[in-house]
Amino acid sequence: MPSRQNLLIISLLSLFLLYLLISRTSSSSSTTNPHIPSSNDEKRGRPAFKQRLIAVGDLHGDISNAQKVLRMAHIIDDQANWVGGEDILVQTGDIVDRGAGALDIYRMMQKLRGQAEGQGGRVVSVLGNHEVMNAIGDWRYVTQDDIKVFGGTKRRQEALAKDGWLGAEWLANYSITASVPLSPHPLSPKLSFTHGSLRPSFPNLTPYPDAINALGHSLLTKALTPPLNPPYPPNPYSGLPKGHTREEAELYAEGGPLWWRGLAEREEGQVCEWARELKEKLGVRRIIGGHTPNFEHIVSRCNGSVIIIDTGISSAYGGVLSALEIVYTLTPVDDKGKDDGHRQDPFMVDDSLPASDYESEPVESIGAKGELKGRYIEREEVHAIYEKRKKWIALEEREVVL
Ligand SMILES: *[C@@H]1O[C@H](CO)[C@@H](O)[C@H](O)[C@H]1NC(C)=O
Ligand SMILES: *[C@@H]1O[C@H](CO)[C@@H](O)[C@H](O)[C@H]1NC(C)=O
Repeated sequence: MPSRQNLLIISLLSLFLLYLLISRTSSSSSTTNPHIPSSNDEKRGRPAFKQRLIAVGDLHGDISNAQKVLRMAHIIDDQANWVGGEDILVQTGDIVDRGAGALDIYRMMQKLRGQAEGQGGRVVSVLGNHEVMNAIGDWRYVTQDDIKVFGGTKRRQEALAKDGWLGAEWLANYSITASVPLSPHPLSPKLSFTHGSLRPSFPNLTPYPDAINALGHSLLTKALTPPLNPPYPPNPYSGLPKGHTREEAELYAEGGPLWWRGLAEREEGQVCEWARELKEKLGVRRIIGGHTPNFEHIVSRCNGSVIIIDTGISSAYGGVLSALEIVYTLTPVDDKGKDDGHRQDPFMVDDSLPASDYESEPVESIGAKGELKGRYIEREEVHAIYEKRKKWIALEEREVVL
């Protein structure tokens, strides 16, 4: 039997060990991100609004890695069903070519789009240069197995045509570029997603994203209206569909949003200047794209203003599995600090703004989260998710009045 004194010593010792354990785990989690300001979440209430967004780059015909990435990001389960709830999934194009699994990925995306909508989530699909190459008959990177999976060249062309299942899906649910708001509030920050790089001097940049997407839709409609261009190879390259306009040709040209690599490849100073110009012209907070792979990691440039998410996910490249994660929250601020900060925030609403602008927002579009009105701490956490680690890219916090 241990004596009373021993019991006392043992309990003090265990308390001390417990303390050590707790202080070590909390300090080790903060030392992994030394440059990130510590959050004082405990001092605040719960967020009134939370939106999670996952973005995934080029998938190039690899259904197995595509599913791994979406599972890793907690967007799908083992049966490839949507478990993302109200999350937003963005895929930045180049699902096709270099592998045999494109058909499966397009089918999966189609299914997820419906399932996501059923749960209050959303799937945003962007076209890559390889989708448009397939549409215009440039099949240089189409594998023989891919043609087989579709049931041969003729069946593949029928699927791609504007009345085929895939052509119709591209025309209805894919666009060249997307501007995605992080909350349903009209003043919400938006993120821009395009397969390649948007060029500040691109002639049809604005009104964004409609000008670019209208051109994309008309070019795609021409390309997918039967008879489709005979595939090259073995036939000679036909180029853009008959009757295309000069503006449509510019959209598909080397300096257009499907092919240009400027934001990924030019030197930092130039890219930051372009990023500033683009953010202002497009009214977005970040410019996110794929197309130019880095096989080790997601690339953040100019402090997260530009993020390139192509990491060669397909086994055709053997890069790293990755997804970009953005967690956006609005947490109400209690009113006692009301008069001590005179910071004029660019996001601040002028009182002269007619209240009806946001009060008319249907309540179900913000779900059970209620109406967004008042003072909030807006927090946007940006991470790269990999198989075994998660890495900070940016964290922005500011006070906003909605
Ligand atoms: C586009 O997506 C919606 C779901 O959001 C789906 O109901 C519709 O069938 C899709 N359109 C085509 C043409 O596939
Ligand atoms: C970079 O972004 C962080 C927030 O993510 C901000 O605190 C910092 O001031 C920015 N740095 C520059 C040089 O803009």
